[in-house]
Amino acid sequence: MMAPPPSPLAFIPFVSVENMMRLVHHFGIEAVLRELTDAIEADYLRWSRFEKAPRLASHSQEGVIELMPTSDGDAYAFKYVNGHPSNTAKGLQTVAAFGLLARVDTGYPLLLTEMTLLTALRTAATSAMVARRLAAADARVMAMIGNGAQAEFQAIAMKAIVGIEEVRLYDIDPAATRKAARNLEGSGIKVVACETSQDAIEGAQIITTCTADKAYATILSDNMVGSGIHINAIGGDCPGKTELHRDILDRATTFVEFEPQTRIEGEIQQMDASYPVTEFWKVLSGEVEGRTDPRQITLFDSVGFAIEDFSALRYLLGKLEGTEFFQQLDIIADPDDPRDLFGMLQRAA
Ligand SMILES: NC(=O)c1ccc[n+]([C@@H]2O[C@H](COP(=O)([O-])OP(=O)(O)OC[C@H]3O[C@@H](n4cnc5c(N)ncnc54)[C@H](O)[C@@H]3O)[C@@H](O)[C@H]2O)c1
Repeated sequence: MMAPPPSPLAFIPFVSVENMMRLVHHFGIEAVLRELTDAIEADYLRWSRFEKAPRLASHSQEGVIELMPTSDGDAYAFKYVNGHPSNTAKGLQTVAAFGLLARVDTGYPLLLTEMTLLTALRTAATSAMVARRLAAADARVMAMIGNGAQAEFQAIAMKAIVGIEEVRLYDIDPAATRKAARNLEGSGIKVVACETSQDAIEGAQIITTCTADKAYATILSDNMVGSGIHINAIGGDCPGKTELHRDILDRATTFVEFEPQTRIEGEIQQMDASYPVTEFWKVLSGEVEGRTDPRQITLFDSVGFAIEDFSALRYLLGKLEGTEFFQQLDIIADPDDPRDLFGMLQRAA
């Protein structure tokens, strides 16, 4: 006997990688980044509504696999994401992800989606959201150290949201710099490929570090960071994986996403527990001032937090309305009698 077709309740929208790419091209990457930045900011302004906990990390010698859940009481989201710096040598990506949004009142899912691209977009949007408050208002030049998968997303978000006009690229692997420079042709950003990190930071008001190494690396040393700089440090995001020399932290005013998680994973894991940090939502809400002095070094010690993924998932669900950028997947078994799950299986034999 043929199994009966699934009921309408069985289906939820699924966004494949292909559809995510079509959606981004349809709306335009800069528009998507701008709207995503506003969506994340709106959720940061509702900070107290969210359930918050450091993400659940499963560490191995090669990398980490993480689950990132949160809820605002109406919707629940989680992302599955990995971080494997040695992957690129095997032809695999360092970071890959997918995620799910669900209703809290019934527990039924609302959306399942690829999140490798969405993570790159939301990470860039979060960096830009923070930089537009903390970087010098006249910041036009950014240095980008680490020119891998995240790099172009970061550059385009900084252009669209902060007004960056020039990006100075550096990577230990010149092939990565060539790739990023090629991809940014036609973006409207002046791109300068540099041979040293020292050269890359020349004249930059924003320094983004987005390298991947499973080590306490020193991508930036203290003497490289002049006054007034905003550092957007996104690559140090795991125990034992940092990018900045601790002397920079001694001079900087440091902003974080969710302090308990960043203490474990961020640059500040190098500092003792009394090292002062400000959760960035407090700057948005006006509780704490952001940049208070043009000579101040501001540091966004970014590790990536679940609320940013929640915002991205809800934003995406809203964008799907009236489009064809999704498929319906029958994910939820939906027996006619909700208690007759076995009968449903039996009748399908
Ligand atoms: N904070 C967040 O929310 C967030 C989100 C996504 C990824 N990340 C992190 O950002 C980092 C970059 O991610 P990706 O997907 O672009 O990785 P990737 O592997 O694609 O690129 C990393 C690049 O860094 C370069 N690199 C390594 N060591 C370097 C050094 N000492 N100096 C200069 N360049 C160096 C590599 O050659 C490579 O091109 C990873 O560590 C990842 O875990 C953070």
